[in-house]
Amino acid sequence: ALVVGRRVRSRKKWKRVVGVLKELEESCETTVGRLRQVVDAMAVEMHAGLASEGGSKLKMLLTFVDNLPSGSEKGIFYALDLGGTNFRVLRVELGGQRSNVDPDVEQQPIPEQLMTGRSEDLFDFIASTLHRFVEKGNDSVQYSITKELGFTFSFPVKQTSVSSGVLIKWTKAFAIKDMVGKEVAGALQQALARKGLNMRVAVLVNDTVGTLALGHYHDADTVAAVIIGTGTNACYWERTDAIIKCQGLLTTSGGMVVNMEWGNFWSSHLPRTSYDIDLDAESPNPNDQGFEKMISGMYLGDIVRRVILRMSEESDIFGPVSSRLYVPFALRTPAMAAMHEDDSPELTEVARILQDVLDIPDVPLKARKLVVKICDVVTRRAARLAAAGIVGILKKIGRDGSGGIAGGRSRSDIKMRRTAVAVEGSLYTQYTMFREYLHEALHEILGEDIVRHVVINVTEDGSGTGAALLAASHSSSGSVQLI
Ligand code: GLC
Repeated sequence: ALVVGRRVRSRKKWKRVVGVLKELEESCETTVGRLRQVVDAMAVEMHAGLASEGGSKLKMLLTFVDNLPSGSEKGIFYALDLGGTNFRVLRVELGGQRSNVDPDVEQQPIPEQLMTGRSEDLFDFIASTLHRFVEKGNDSVQYSITKELGFTFSFPVKQTSVSSGVLIKWTKAFAIKDMVGKEVAGALQQALARKGLNMRVAVLVNDTVGTLALGHYHDADTVAAVIIGTGTNACYWERTDAIIKCQGLLTTSGGMVVNMEWGNFWSSHLPRTSYDIDLDAESPNPNDQGFEKMISGMYLGDIVRRVILRMSEESDIFGPVSSRLYVPFALRTPAMAAMHEDDSPELTEVARILQDVLDIPDVPLKARKLVVKICDVVTRRAARLAAAGIVGILKKIGRDGSGGIAGGRSRSDIKMRRTAVAVEGSLYTQYTMFREYLHEALHEILGEDIVRHVVINVTEDGSGTGAALLAASHSSSGSVQLI
């Protein structure tokens, strides 16, 4: 009788856990109908963000990048790429013919204390790393000719020109208080001077803008760029007359790259769970970056941790509740991806990660399968929302086959032009399931007739290399005027 009693109890507990999973699945639902609502909301918010300052949660920031590299750029250019998990220094040598840009790259993780300390320390660290990098190469640090530098700074910046701007706020894991509202390129320029580096910050760009520049360099049909890494964001090429909030903006090309800061996108159509609400409330930036918190690498692992914690509290399928489960960000997205993609029959990698990372030993196979399922639900939602975001941009610029927001033409009337989107970031490039779900959703939303014309190009180190290319094409003063 005792054994039977225990079995009944454990069956009940299992039922409760399955209930938690079901609830998660339901609240993460992304039917194609719902994705289309997200597409529409994205396009509407883009319009609103372009119409007036503060008109939308989408900031739609001017970049002052009014021409993209043509391929005729020549010379040696440097770039710094700051904003993700790693910090990169790059050097490119351009020969004047559109060719494979093959940069020298050095990468280094940013010491955690520098992300939340004083801005001077962060910029001194950056300048020292650059100093060492330049010395190691063939170029002399004491050169008499000023070297042009592209600075990729992947945070929302209110640009005042292509080479200057102030930080609006920090996102992701950065929180250096004394930097908010300050001139970003100026802070770097001063640190370079302190180190005796004869370099000029020729362009200050977002990582999406660098990616667009490199994407466009290789494929002239590229109209937008998306980053899905630690954070997520997109930029695209917009006609200046559509940037209503900035009347009198004149560029020789008639267009400008707009940094959307889509990480901050919000819509009531987004499928939100109690885990998202808790994650947001406990984050350093509550009510901000809502889209980013559902999609990007900084957060996905933490959503999964929260679900496992809930299941562990409701039942004993994971044994006694591990104290590691209470530690924010204890489960990082690369570990989550490794569990999700464990194709061994016994799910040995899942077992190993649960043990090593979350301190949960001896998890039965049935519960390991459950963990894989949680990862799947969370990643699938993220990838499908990112796909909806991409289609939102295509819709705004009339490349989704629907004839634009005001167009009344039928699908068959439209001759769809080949449209390329440059994509970068570890979720897309390193997480196969994420990439596949994103592609699948693009097919579902756009339909086979239209999706044939949409190309996703992966760029490598585009955020940095693109900044070096832009430094080259903007090395003499730009042509943007405000009249
Ligand atoms: C965050 C930043 C944004 C950046 C993105 C990807 O969303 O605010 O500027 O482009 O992360 O790195």
